[in-house]
Amino acid sequence: MKMSEFARRRRQLIRMMGNGSIAIVPAAPERLRNRDVEYPYRQDSDLHYLTGFPEPEAVAVLVPGHRHSEFVLFCRALDPEREAWTGPRAGQKGAVDGFGADDSFPITDLDDILPGLLEGCERVFYTMGRDPEFDRRLIAWVNRIRENTRSGSRSPAEFISLDLLLHEMRLFKSAAELRVMRAAARITMEAHRRAMRRCRPGMGEYEVEAELLYHFRRHGADVAYPPIVGGGANGCVLHYVRNDAPLQDGDLLLIDAGAELECYASDITRTFPVNGRFTPAQRAIYDLVLKAQEAAIAKVRPGNHWNDPHQAVVRVFTEGLVRLGLLKGRPAQLIKDGAYRRFYMHRTGHWLGLDVHDVGDYKVDGKWRLLEPGMVLTVEPGLYIPAGGKGVARKWWNIGVRIEDDVRVTPEGREVLTGGLIRSADAIEAWMAGGD
Ligand code: GLY
Ligand code: MN
Ligand code: MN
Repeated sequence: MKMSEFARRRRQLIRMMGNGSIAIVPAAPERLRNRDVEYPYRQDSDLHYLTGFPEPEAVAVLVPGHRHSEFVLFCRALDPEREAWTGPRAGQKGAVDGFGADDSFPITDLDDILPGLLEGCERVFYTMGRDPEFDRRLIAWVNRIRENTRSGSRSPAEFISLDLLLHEMRLFKSAAELRVMRAAARITMEAHRRAMRRCRPGMGEYEVEAELLYHFRRHGADVAYPPIVGGGANGCVLHYVRNDAPLQDGDLLLIDAGAELECYASDITRTFPVNGRFTPAQRAIYDLVLKAQEAAIAKVRPGNHWNDPHQAVVRVFTEGLVRLGLLKGRPAQLIKDGAYRRFYMHRTGHWLGLDVHDVGDYKVDGKWRLLEPGMVLTVEPGLYIPAGGKGVARKWWNIGVRIEDDVRVTPEGREVLTGGLIRSADAIEAWMAGGD
């Protein structure tokens, strides 16, 4: 992504904050996995959104209207000895030349310099509670200024959650963001296609997972979240991530996996038969989930509200489950009673962007918010029927089906970013039989 995109975002935030404000955005901390081993580093999404800066131990500071330095980036100083171990750093010159900072200081100078930037600002935009250690430091800096008010210092009067402005910005995807999200979607679609093609009875779930990971890494992407690769009963466990069971002939396989590219997530679920052929019962459930998903996707358009796709799913599911004999009663009453929750216990989607469950409010003033062009959401209905349920015929046991796609709201309606990936039962069977 071009540096001008990050600069545009900073300008927008600076305009919204107004003079007399300061925004403070720390990098994500590095986290220990065990002893000397760290988890792979992933930058904080807010800091990435505003700067594209990939290193840990950094803090971005925006001061609208500041004489020379509206954007100050604190980051690690150059240190040839350390860099020999962990790779090159941007350093202060790199922060200015490569990342557009007006000024940059070593992160070790934060305690000395940041209070000076805070002093005289009326409003501090900051996300409290994400990093308790940094919260404490910020409070200490403000207290230091307060102690000096008798000698004329002015301490900030207001703390405002940065999320209010920044997460509203992140909710609406720019053309540059959509280009990356489409690329992440493309890699994910190809990976699912590959996994479907290579799946055979007797393989381990982890072998199918390996096909996904291989394709992601081959294209320079990472996982946006731990993939779910669940055969048979495991497909009914919503957050199954062990992926260590053998795949049985006659079972379904549910794969929920998405690539992350340049920090942007994709999020796709497909469900298909391990042996390439749906049983009639599996197909009946599959077709019902697909019908619900199509009804929900059709509800994605400007002016509809967030909950419209979910309501469409609930209606299609309830009527379908009555038809299949899995629910008994009048659909209208069953919907009122929430009877579908026995088989559909999650909601129909979430915002998607830098975070797989992306930021942005779902309600405004207590009401579901209206969909607007530029928002990206998932549509992911599913039905999960574990074995042994009271009154559930044996033929339905261990059928877990979810179908998930990523959808952008456009001025006219919608664009399914992941629409290039086969979805119908017939198309899946044809693809698994070696067709194209
Ligand atoms: N993969 C996480 C989700 O579907 O929400
Ligand atoms: Mn998913
Ligand atoms: Mn999802």
